Amino acid sequence: MRTNRLVILSIVVSLTLFASNTETNGISLKEKKESEDIAKAVKRGQEASSFLMKTLGGKMKEHMKSGGPKEALKFCSENAARLTADVNEKFGKNVNVKRVTLKPRNPANLAEDDEKEVLEALEILKKNGVKLPKYLIQKSAGGYKFYKPLTINNRVCLKCHGSNIGADLLGYIKKIYPTDSATGYKMGDLRGAVVVTIGN
Ligand code: HEC
Repeated sequence: MRTNRLVILSIVVSLTLFASNTETNGISLKEKKESEDIAKAVKRGQEASSFLMKTLGGKMKEHMKSGGPKEALKFCSENAARLTADVNEKFGKNVNVKRVTLKPRNPANLAEDDEKEVLEALEILKKNGVKLPKYLIQKSAGGYKFYKPLTINNRVCLKCHGSNIGADLLGYIKKIYPTDSATGYKMGDLRGAVVVTIGN
């Protein structure tokens, strides 16, 4: 008699657990799909952002070596957009990669509104001593935006984005970019982000 009651009780408990399990399974299927989509977006974002930074950084190094900052600056001003477009071509139509900032040298690189909010949030985190994440993922219309925060992580950046830029180079910058606001940075400052937009 006692055993029977126990059996019935355990069946009831199992059924209840089963019912709640299928319910959580219903939710977790959706969650599973979302986390797979995010993992894919992260992978694409990492590939595209690394490729863009390697491409631009490699060319920059080459030209700094062969002709110094002015030559490298000229090269960047004439080729950064084309090199970025080439990387975009390589990654296909569902992926778009670009560099954005709150203080642009090239006005075309000004962050869009949602990107501005992310960069401003990163500035706040930094001010509060929070170590910035390697990347962030934002849900956006029809997909995700992958952000790789870019800091002034090398003294070479200061040659063209710092506070002690020689008069000749500064004049040259102002000539090419009359609205330049990308100077005055210190080591460790947040300069912007690489943003990779990934569609579904
Ligand atoms: C030789 C000069 C030079 C050096 C060195 C340099 N930059 Fe720039 N940077 C530029 C120019 C020129 C542009 C504008 C390119 C364009 O027209 O798209 C630019 C643009 C950028 C942008 C895009 C946003 C904007 O303001 O237009 C970021 C981000 C950036 N630089 C980060 C860095 C970082 C980080 C370093 C160091 C690793 C660095 N730069 C070193 C010249 C330089």
